Amino acid sequence: MSTTAVELTAYWAKGPVALIIGCGGMGTSIARTLGRRHPLLMVDIDQKRLDATVDGLLLDGFAARGHLCDITDPAQIETLGQVLAQGPGVRALAHVAAVGKSIGDWRKMMDIDLFGAVRVAQAAGPSLVRGGAALFISSLASYLPPLDSKLDALLDDPLAPGFCDALETYHGREPDFDWTYNYAKLGVNRLAERLARDWRGREARALSLSPGMIDSPMARAEGDTLPSHDGSEARVTRADKAKEIPLEREGSLLEITNVVDFLLSDAASFVNGIDIPVDGGHRAVWHKAGIVAR
Ligand SMILES: NC(=O)c1ccc[n+]([C@@H]2O[C@H](COP(=O)([O-])OP(=O)(O)OC[C@H]3O[C@@H](n4cnc5c(N)ncnc54)[C@H](O)[C@@H]3O)[C@@H](O)[C@H]2O)c1
Repeated sequence: MSTTAVELTAYWAKGPVALIIGCGGMGTSIARTLGRRHPLLMVDIDQKRLDATVDGLLLDGFAARGHLCDITDPAQIETLGQVLAQGPGVRALAHVAAVGKSIGDWRKMMDIDLFGAVRVAQAAGPSLVRGGAALFISSLASYLPPLDSKLDALLDDPLAPGFCDALETYHGREPDFDWTYNYAKLGVNRLAERLARDWRGREARALSLSPGMIDSPMARAEGDTLPSHDGSEARVTRADKAKEIPLEREGSLLEITNVVDFLLSDAASFVNGIDIPVDGGHRAVWHKAGIVAR
């Protein structure tokens, strides 16, 4: 029997893996869900965090391994690609790793949040098995940039030399961290769309998922204020921002993980090349208010 097109229980640890890039709050939560039916390969830049995550997963009975990799380093990404090519294949890719303003340099942020996603797709894409799927965690912020074919064309070639200079010119000045994040995440959505087309004939799917306001370690680390999106530079507290959401609260990591679980399973086998917002209805409110055009 072929082992490539069926979902295996993690107990058969030689089957294609679920590859999870980023061992933070969301990545670990996703691992605990995908690990119920796939062996796990966890990737992170932080050795201590990687070891602690893999140890915790093994203790719970999951089949898990770790691979240290900085997704901004082309040589390390190439090694990851080689490791994957020598293994049983990738059944599910969840790309989660991203940083916020705490990184302190917008170009570095773009390198991790957008270029990193593109490099991971290049490394892991060839190892996706038939029936496999890749999901890139984006953000509701990806809906904030204007609808503009010039911007889309720029974001569709992020590894082109001079990309950051061209984006700075497009933006009219150095983008702040909020705008860097918005552009990077729109680039991630467009990457997933592109991959879905590029993987024609392979029976492999590509998607992005845009969480809205989620109570997570990353969100807490980013501080208690968010842009008001009222056309001014004003910021509002997270609590006030959450009141915009029709459900009048932030979401939880579990509410993201449940959707990731579905989208990366055979139950979603015809969902391809699209971004799925998981935001409690926040985008719908922003759309009505003219804050987003998408
Ligand atoms: N929490 C929210 O409200 C919210 C909203 C929208 C989108 N998101 C998105 O969800 C994801 C949040 O993930 P999280 O909560 O697990 O974040 P996190 O900060 O807990 O984890 C991010 C992980 O990425 C790893 N990482 C950073 N740079 C790396 C690199 N160069 N190479 C390899 N690994 C690297 C970090 O070591 C860390 O383990 C991000 O993509 C974020 O943009 C979050």
